[in-house]
Amino acid sequence: MFDLTGRTALVTGGGQNIGAGIAQTLATAGARVLVNDLRAERAEKIVADIVESGGQATAAPFDVTDRDAVLAAVAGLGPVDVLVNNAGNGGAEAMLPKKFTDTDPDDWRGPMEVNLDGVLHCCHAVLPGMVDRGHGRIITISSAAGTHGVGIGFATYSVGKGGSLSLMRSLALEHGRDGITANSVALGVMDSVRPETAAALTKSIPVGRLGSPGDVGATCLWLASDESGWVTGQTIGLNGGAFTS
Ligand SMILES: NC(=O)c1ccc[n+]([C@@H]2O[C@H](COP(=O)([O-])OP(=O)(O)OC[C@H]3O[C@@H](n4cnc5c(N)ncnc54)[C@H](O)[C@@H]3O)[C@@H](O)[C@H]2O)c1
Repeated sequence: MFDLTGRTALVTGGGQNIGAGIAQTLATAGARVLVNDLRAERAEKIVADIVESGGQATAAPFDVTDRDAVLAAVAGLGPVDVLVNNAGNGGAEAMLPKKFTDTDPDDWRGPMEVNLDGVLHCCHAVLPGMVDRGHGRIITISSAAGTHGVGIGFATYSVGKGGSLSLMRSLALEHGRDGITANSVALGVMDSVRPETAAALTKSIPVGRLGSPGDVGATCLWLASDESGWVTGQTIGLNGGAFTS
């Protein structure tokens, strides 16, 4: 089960943390992984790790917010069977909390460009090929900020995350008969939080631990597999039980 041999998976923002965990998990299951990142050296490092472990991977550096760059890169990569839209957070910038009323419209574009526009660009680039081949898996890494909102100064990030999971629902409906599924994975608190806040945050999680890149990789593997073909248009909450649905 969950064998991805013969499949090619593009993982955006795969150069570190969660994206790297997803890339490594899909490669272990037999996929050839195209590791995207804005920062080429990060993608190359993860590719080297995968190849050293016996997997197949190629670096595919480009900026998901740049439509022309996405189209040019995808045209040169060959068929993409699985797209994991993972690039997100603040994109090239650190995410700085700011109360919505203290922001101005110039502050809104950045979080939405990477968390929503980047997903639109990548889906738009790979979908025609998936339709032609009658098969595709699209997975978008979203957040509880997108499903439930967040009150700590990241309102426009939550807009981007909510918009991208809505896109998955519509793509699922438009492409259900093309053999393509589109789902989201909405993450809760992950183990990349600052160490000084980890203990307090862990207390709010019913299973008693923070999430890891391996947790996300395992869910993506299931959603990337042939066996998940009847799962589409869904938002899978991956949060240790912190939010029930
Ligand atoms: N870490 C968390 O607690 C958490 C919680 C909920 C959701 N998420 C989501 O999970 C995903 C991964 O999170 P992470 O913490 O591993 O992120 P991260 O910021 O540690 O890594 C993201 C990677 O994406 C790359 N990237 C940024 N902008 C890019 C662009 N425009 N084009 C291509 N690559 C780009 C970065 O260079 C980086 O290597 C994101 O979508 C994030 O919003 C994370």
